[in-house]
Amino acid sequence: MGKILFNGEITDRERLIDIEDRAYQFGDGIYEVIGIYDGKSFLMDEHMERLQRSADEIQIDLEISVDELAAQLEQLIEKNGVVEGIVYLQVSRGVAPRTHEFPVEKVSPTIVAYTRSVPDFTDIQDNGIKVILEKDIRWLRCDIKTVNLLPNTLTKQKAVEKGAFEAILHRDEVVTEASSANIFIVKDGELYTHPANNLILNGITRQQVISFCRELDIKVHEQTYTVDDMFAADEVILTATKVDVLPIVQIEDKMINNGKVGSISKRLVERFRTTTNNL
Ligand code: PDD
Repeated sequence: MGKILFNGEITDRERLIDIEDRAYQFGDGIYEVIGIYDGKSFLMDEHMERLQRSADEIQIDLEISVDELAAQLEQLIEKNGVVEGIVYLQVSRGVAPRTHEFPVEKVSPTIVAYTRSVPDFTDIQDNGIKVILEKDIRWLRCDIKTVNLLPNTLTKQKAVEKGAFEAILHRDEVVTEASSANIFIVKDGELYTHPANNLILNGITRQQVISFCRELDIKVHEQTYTVDDMFAADEVILTATKVDVLPIVQIEDKMINNGKVGSISKRLVERFRTTTNNL
């Protein structure tokens, strides 16, 4: 099962969350998922920076520096001996009698984390995945990594029921992202992805892919594109923590690149592996 981190202490998993924890009652909290490769965390600082930003946006005082928090997460990873997996970190506003407004008396946040092993994604990275298309029914602050994920879970469930890996979301025909990942399309050798504004989560993997592209001399446009543009694309790529880069070869019943993984997708999968194999 492994240990958990609970407000600074590495302890047994049986530790209970209070029924009046605001994350439990309102989804009033934020989170991060950090990838672990061969026992080492990847892009920890970038995840911690985004956690701080999410906290600031919803006015949660972490009461701990993100550097200290990162050190605690590294201890947890080591203690649990995770080789290939993730660490899930959640920060809620804290425990207080239920009122919709913030607690009158200042409360300390509840900070919890656990680790989990994940399966190997090599096969789907090499062969591609099928996805579905759904309306983006989320709120207008998708840039905050909040635990309020009901629209995401409902959409992902639809994907799974249709035997698909993910659901790509669109707002009025403009592709935003997927239920728990970012989306890129490739047209004529160049990448396009939704700008990092309030309508998407600015994925850490997304940012890493953009920086790999710069290095590989592949042009990336952070600009919107439509569902039709996506269907006409040469390649479609999904990015998220730990799955890294997943080529999309089918959307609903339409094949992308004749159902084959394209050359830019392959280069990005390879580029990612080179980095994560040498952390
Ligand atoms: N989800 N967009 C959404 C809505 C997400 O939930 C995620 C990640 C991403 C990709 O972000 P990153 O590259 O930083 O993982 C984009 C995580 C993995 C999750 O909820 O489990």
